[in-house]
Amino acid sequence: MAAFIPFKLSLLLSLLSNIGFLPETSKNKVGIFPPPCNRIECPSFDIIQQGNGYEIRRYNSSVWISTPRIQDISLVGATRTGFLQLFDYIQGKNKYEKQIEMTAPVITEVLPGDGPFCESTFTVSFYVPKVNQANPPPAEGLLIERLKSTYVAIRQFGGFVTDYNIAEEAAALQASLEGTAWSDAIERSRKHYGVTIYSVAQSNSPFEFSGRVNEIWMMFDFEDEFLPV
Ligand SMILES: *[C@@H]1O[C@H](CO)[C@@H](O)[C@H](O)[C@H]1NC(C)=O
Repeated sequence: MAAFIPFKLSLLLSLLSNIGFLPETSKNKVGIFPPPCNRIECPSFDIIQQGNGYEIRRYNSSVWISTPRIQDISLVGATRTGFLQLFDYIQGKNKYEKQIEMTAPVITEVLPGDGPFCESTFTVSFYVPKVNQANPPPAEGLLIERLKSTYVAIRQFGGFVTDYNIAEEAAALQASLEGTAWSDAIERSRKHYGVTIYSVAQSNSPFEFSGRVNEIWMMFDFEDEFLPV
């Protein structure tokens, strides 16, 4: 019987790896369509590549609305502050007193602070619906920005976004990109724009407890002619 043990052990290990007992980074954390995008408008994108633990998307140029920079020690806190301003905006607190449909996701951009007790800087933004793209109502204190076409490396994770899990998820995304052409392009973009940035994209209402899909986004420039796929 002893001869069967290694076989059983290897079978056990392969079963464990299939049902997710191995570290998070070894799982493929992409490819889920965020359920809220079946109900409300989300910016459309082209999938350029799905790798092990990451997805590369390309978003075409579009108009987004965002808060000014928010200083906070907490991403969750900054997102709430920013979201309330954006919520007022879509409810009609804008120059044309126009109501605007909510879209998903809400993006919180992170510019990390210098030390453990330092405030970080955040901006919160969302995609302007197609019908309002040509003429989005201005509003005091909010910025309307036309983003140029951009590439984004994405990692998805479930559950609730907390101040404790985002840095881990961002590090896991970074690790899964290591050694790819994308990683070089992201590094180049960071050098060019002068900050280490990632964003957290949330699509669910805070009151939904299942089917939650959150994403870490790392945006970067990429010349189409160098596409590896
Ligand atoms: C983005 O723009 C390109 C070029 O105009 C087009 O072929 C593509 O379908 C667009 N993608 C999306 C998701 O709208």
